[in-house]
Amino acid sequence: MPKKPFAQDKAKLPRIRRLDLPMYERIYQAFRDAILNGQMLPGARLPATRALAQHYGVSRNTIIQAYDQLASEGYFETRHGSGTYVANELPENFVLSRQYPAMRKSASKAKPSARLWNTGRPPQTFQIGVPDMERFPTEIWLKLYAKHLRSSPYSLVNYDFEDGYPPLRNAIASYLNTRKGVQCSSEQILILPGSQQAQELVVRSLLQPGDQAWIEDPCYRGTRSALRQNGIKAIPVPLDQNGLDVSYGLKKATKAGLAIITPSHQYPIGCSMPIGRRLELLQWAKDSNSWILEDDYDSEYRYRGKPIPAMQGIDEGNRVLYMGTFSKCLFPDIRIGYLVAPFSALEALKEMQAATGSYPPIAMQATLAAFIHEGHFERHIRRMRDRYSKLYYSLIEALEKNCSDYLTIGPREGGMHVTILLKDPSKAATIQKEASDQGILLHPISKYASSKNSAQGFLLGFCCFEEKQLISSAMRLKKMFEKIT
Ligand SMILES: Cc1ncc(COP(=O)(O)O)c(C=O)c1O
Repeated sequence: MPKKPFAQDKAKLPRIRRLDLPMYERIYQAFRDAILNGQMLPGARLPATRALAQHYGVSRNTIIQAYDQLASEGYFETRHGSGTYVANELPENFVLSRQYPAMRKSASKAKPSARLWNTGRPPQTFQIGVPDMERFPTEIWLKLYAKHLRSSPYSLVNYDFEDGYPPLRNAIASYLNTRKGVQCSSEQILILPGSQQAQELVVRSLLQPGDQAWIEDPCYRGTRSALRQNGIKAIPVPLDQNGLDVSYGLKKATKAGLAIITPSHQYPIGCSMPIGRRLELLQWAKDSNSWILEDDYDSEYRYRGKPIPAMQGIDEGNRVLYMGTFSKCLFPDIRIGYLVAPFSALEALKEMQAATGSYPPIAMQATLAAFIHEGHFERHIRRMRDRYSKLYYSLIEALEKNCSDYLTIGPREGGMHVTILLKDPSKAATIQKEASDQGILLHPISKYASSKNSAQGFLLGFCCFEEKQLISSAMRLKKMFEKIT
């Protein structure tokens, strides 16, 4: 049956809204909206341009301009000798049909939200890696950010970001020299969108596919994936109470080109590496011409004793690369971290940084530089250190009081999670499942380990909770243990 021309039913022609736009654009928009909301169906024949011009009281040229635009974007198709039709395959179909149905549904529902949690949900009990955002000086941050966005419209439109924002590099160099015992000048600092990119750059620019790298076992999962994605063979080296067991590494893979370690606060177990072991590692790196990548992700949060100076500061062979992040001490979505590299490695790293485009936005870098320069950073760290320290010891006390029949507490070197070790390792999976049923998020150590014989226990995040919540959560854990064992 021949299709009914759309124009025969004038009531169905879209209404032109009063918008501050040229007439052809208003007509274009009215038709596009009618197609997208289903008022005009694919395959429907469109009125002749002359008839439509009459209907809307505009010139025929105006209609032709709108038709041309709709045809060039794929909403209309012209069939030679028979007129213009709504296209059977709309441009949106090409995009949407490649998505999963569930994504389409949620994408249509997802609205921008004023809350910054990705999921819109607050963190689950014992969730790790979440700082206390309620106490972050958001107003100060926003003022600085706005100031930098406004400062000069041209400062944000060029591509002069390759060396990082100089005042931020200076601020980081000075912080690292005075607070962390890192010996560097600002030229040795690469500003990156997080320390994961630092691992990626080091692996890609200083190793070759097929090379070997020592990793701690267990270790941060991003480390393993940076190696795997770049064809590097990870050699898991077990830990003892002093961290990575260098003698094991020497037996397994003397010629490894890199060791990635967390000497200030081993992730996830929590021990710190004493000076003797550090010197052993440095000697290995010097003798074998290998690199050490020192991941100092959370040493701001050490709650007793003096901060442990970075290994980079005692490296005489220029074999240590040092990386840090603002994800933990400020907030993860800042996406700013840094890599301090010996001069001999700088060029290769910078080339790789340029090739991968790993640069955080300058406005964010400038905000952070001002935040540090004006003293807000040190103040925030001090406040958070006090707060986290109270929470850390309260949680440990509550766990010892309620759960000591079932677990021991791992090394107590501070940080943003407490590691617990199960007295009966065979119960780990059951405990995790039961906890999850009760809305408690227990991160198993085994998730970070290569060997099946890894320690069995969990990481408990505490930074974004109130003391009362932590104490009652420890009591809930006790009930759960009693039920299971
Ligand atoms: C041990 C460790 N290293 C590196 C990172 C990566 O941090 P970023 O957010 O800077 O990529 C993390 C993040 O959780 C971490 O826990």
